[in-house]
Amino acid sequence: MNGITILSAAAALPARRMTNDDMAAIVDTSDEWISTRTGIRQRYFCAGEETVWQLAARAARRALDEAGIDPARLAACVVATMSPAYATPSTACLVQRELGLEESILCFDLNAACSGFVFALETVRGLVTDEKPYALVIGAEALSHITDFSDRSTCVLFGDGAGAVVVAKSGAPFACVHGARGNSEALVCPAFGSEKQYLGMDGRAVFRFAVDILPRCIGGVLDKSGLAMEDIDYFVCHQANRRILDHVVKSMKADPAKFYMNLARYGNTSAASIPLALADMHTEGLLRPGMRLVCAGFGGGFTWGGVLVCWREKGEHLCD
Ligand code: UT7
Repeated sequence: MNGITILSAAAALPARRMTNDDMAAIVDTSDEWISTRTGIRQRYFCAGEETVWQLAARAARRALDEAGIDPARLAACVVATMSPAYATPSTACLVQRELGLEESILCFDLNAACSGFVFALETVRGLVTDEKPYALVIGAEALSHITDFSDRSTCVLFGDGAGAVVVAKSGAPFACVHGARGNSEALVCPAFGSEKQYLGMDGRAVFRFAVDILPRCIGGVLDKSGLAMEDIDYFVCHQANRRILDHVVKSMKADPAKFYMNLARYGNTSAASIPLALADMHTEGLLRPGMRLVCAGFGGGFTWGGVLVCWREKGEHLCD
């Protein structure tokens, strides 16, 4: 299967940092409850005029600068988001405008809730060509704009942010699995025309879904690629709850050090969480050319997806 490699990863966060104690000043909660139930210690919220497309554009510019590619050779710019500022123009078109990207680049948003970034990676794999071998894949959310700050069961969980990667067409190993169960109850946010455009969640139902699907999703990617757990350098899962990931590590008898976690810093940023994790791993110096990563997401609609993708290719030259 023709694959893609990730050339660069970058993050953008809003200005306003909210600790668990800050949340406890808004709703009846505590640092103790939030950190023991979720592992989250702080999150960032858009403040004032900050928008999701600004975050997306900032992360994208950084990722493009680092990759050092000619933006004219981008086949696509895809933004995974479920909290766009506009139904139209898409967040991707606003990124296109901010970055001055060429008209020939396919720009669109993709909504698969927290699985969006994984779905977007799989999508762009089918769009890159020899002539246009690169794509910009962004996960960006302003979940604070669709959060009910009187509902303690949800408002302490979510955060805002954006992560962006530049991918390149490649012969490196690639495999993907995905699915959706058409769930319409466990995670719901009404869209346009609704009076209360807030995220509502049956946390326990989502938890059960997550601990069931993540091991099967990761196992599916391994089966398809013919690789074993030991062949994978890092598992980069959607960052929703530390307990979910601990559960997965235990049930798969996996090495916990291979399951990267940064949700303590950002909370659950939905489609942005995996690229934010990749950006942090890169900043922390954890990623080396040729490393095999399995990215796995799950979320609203009971969507789920996993991809095996390499971080650069050994000896990959980062400029055209
Ligand atoms: O991105 C994908 C979407 N989301 C997820 O992956 C979330 C998956 N679910 C979860 O992470 C967990 O279910 C939660 C963290 C959301 C909740 O943890 P839980 O252990 O399932 O708690 P619970 O909903 O069963 O609530 C337990 C108690 C309740 O009180 P009572 O009824 O036992 O008296 C809640 O009212 O905790 C209470 N509670 C809180 N207490 C303090 C709920 N939220 C809070 C809060 N602070 N923020």
